[in-house]
Amino acid sequence: MNRLFLFLCLFLLLLGCARNTEPSTAATEVASDDWWKEAIVYQIYPRSFQDTNGDGIGDLNGIIERLDYIRDLGVTAVWLNPIYSSPNDDNGYEISDYRNIMADFGTMADFDRMLAGLHERDIKLIMDVVVNHSSDEHEWFVQSRSSRDNPYRDYYHWWPAERGKPPYRYSLFDAEGNAWKYDSITNAYYLHYFSQKQPDLNWSNPALRQEVYDIMTFWADKGVDGFRLDAFQFSAKDTTYPVFEGLTETNFVDYYAMQPGLHDYLREMNERVFSKYDVMSVAEGAGRNFQDAHDLVDADRRELDMAYAFDGVDIPKYGGYELRTMKEVFSRWDREFAEDGWLSIFLSNHDQARMVSRWGDDRPEYRAPSSKLLNTFLLSMRGTPYCYYGDEIGMTNIDFDEIDDYRDIAARNGYRKAQAQGKDIARFLEELNFSSRDNGRTPMQWTDGPQAGFTTGTPWLPVNENHAQINVAAQEKDPRSILQHFRALTKLRRENPVLVYGSYDLLLSDHEQVYAYTRTGDNDRMLIVLNFSSESVTVDLPEAEDAAVVINNYPTFDRQGGELRLAPWQAVILRRG
Ligand code: NOJ
Ligand code: CA
Repeated sequence: MNRLFLFLCLFLLLLGCARNTEPSTAATEVASDDWWKEAIVYQIYPRSFQDTNGDGIGDLNGIIERLDYIRDLGVTAVWLNPIYSSPNDDNGYEISDYRNIMADFGTMADFDRMLAGLHERDIKLIMDVVVNHSSDEHEWFVQSRSSRDNPYRDYYHWWPAERGKPPYRYSLFDAEGNAWKYDSITNAYYLHYFSQKQPDLNWSNPALRQEVYDIMTFWADKGVDGFRLDAFQFSAKDTTYPVFEGLTETNFVDYYAMQPGLHDYLREMNERVFSKYDVMSVAEGAGRNFQDAHDLVDADRRELDMAYAFDGVDIPKYGGYELRTMKEVFSRWDREFAEDGWLSIFLSNHDQARMVSRWGDDRPEYRAPSSKLLNTFLLSMRGTPYCYYGDEIGMTNIDFDEIDDYRDIAARNGYRKAQAQGKDIARFLEELNFSSRDNGRTPMQWTDGPQAGFTTGTPWLPVNENHAQINVAAQEKDPRSILQHFRALTKLRRENPVLVYGSYDLLLSDHEQVYAYTRTGDNDRMLIVLNFSSESVTVDLPEAEDAAVVINNYPTFDRQGGELRLAPWQAVILRRG
């Protein structure tokens, strides 16, 4: 017995040594229980990352091919947009089989290989969970709509037509903006906050809730490391469907988010799923105010781990933004979460314009410095950074002029609605050109060759012509590229816990071009200075005097004592001893 025990210890020791001698990988520094606080998340839109079979659609094998690239970015977790079976009305955000992989993306065997490949490289995987709604092609809905007394009827929200028209509900994606769709099979309306093919699930039904927990358990058993809960703040609904006095298409969050029951569902989900695994959970949306956000993620509530608040990306975009507003929003959120709760930090995702086009300056002369500056911001704030694929090489918006160029249901149905409402279509298209979600979904630019090396076929969404200048292959070779700078930043963050946990203090709060702040830990202090403008700017920042430059997106740093002359979009991190 003793021998067996000794043998086992020796074996475990050797195993440990073997692991420690593996080549250094991205996440070796991430060790704490709160790994998700220390994580650097890389978001991949699988449809657009890498195609391997020439059908023009990115696939799981494509992610597998690029695993070393992902590791070399220095990120420690990947969030994948939905990869489950789906008819793709909203690119996977309507699931027809939660335990299967979308045929376009590959097979479950591919998934298993991808997960193993990520884990071999010490990279965690966060799955998107879309359970505010399913696809109308899910078997539950097929059953539910078939008759009023079907056992699945109450998996969804129905309003019998003999009661007249249901009280108005706004739909985000419907061409008429109406969230009730009449279904003649049972002479009733079903509810869909998103498109008609995305019927909302009825969370007040315990049977539905158990189905979802079983699905999440299935994925947790496979070894995934986290869940991102899509639109979940909308999932609790008053099933008497009262009249929402004053509901409009701009204030729907006040009526839809955080309704009674939501916290009970989350506590139940936590108890039945999260508490049993080492998984992290992040909400999409953080309610209507700080209290809502805290109620979702404060540790003692045992609901979710991390908030993903929209106030940053909701800052008015078209026509530019004011830096002071940006500072105010990010500083306010940081202040409110200084003691309890934890935030996500992001400037882009698959629902937004490209980061550099939106927050930086994507003209050729400023694209590189401004991309580097924005990455410096993301990777030096308190909260978990979410870096969106392509932003590490400065990919930009694409220039679509015709509505037929767009693939996104939000754009296409939005156009129909704008037409029906008699809106100024030229202006609608101009705004769409800037803010459309398709901007953030164009294929990854790997090379300057045909289709940027994304596919050998016809890509599902056009490749941006600027792949001739903006691509991974070129930036691999250039030591001063956006890509190399991104890698240096992730390394810096991984090696300096002060950038994760240090307190945040804003300097120069009213300055219109410079965003400066400190991150302070017990024994360390960093100063971050960012010139958010395309002009040179001089500022007095006594804090910077004598501080050591840790990273700089320019070869030089012009400093006379505490007076700094910053080049356009210059971004510098300094260490104060
Ligand atoms: C939020 C997702 O990020 C978005 O892409 C999707 O369209 C909606 N939820 C509906 O699932
Ligand atoms: Ca493919």
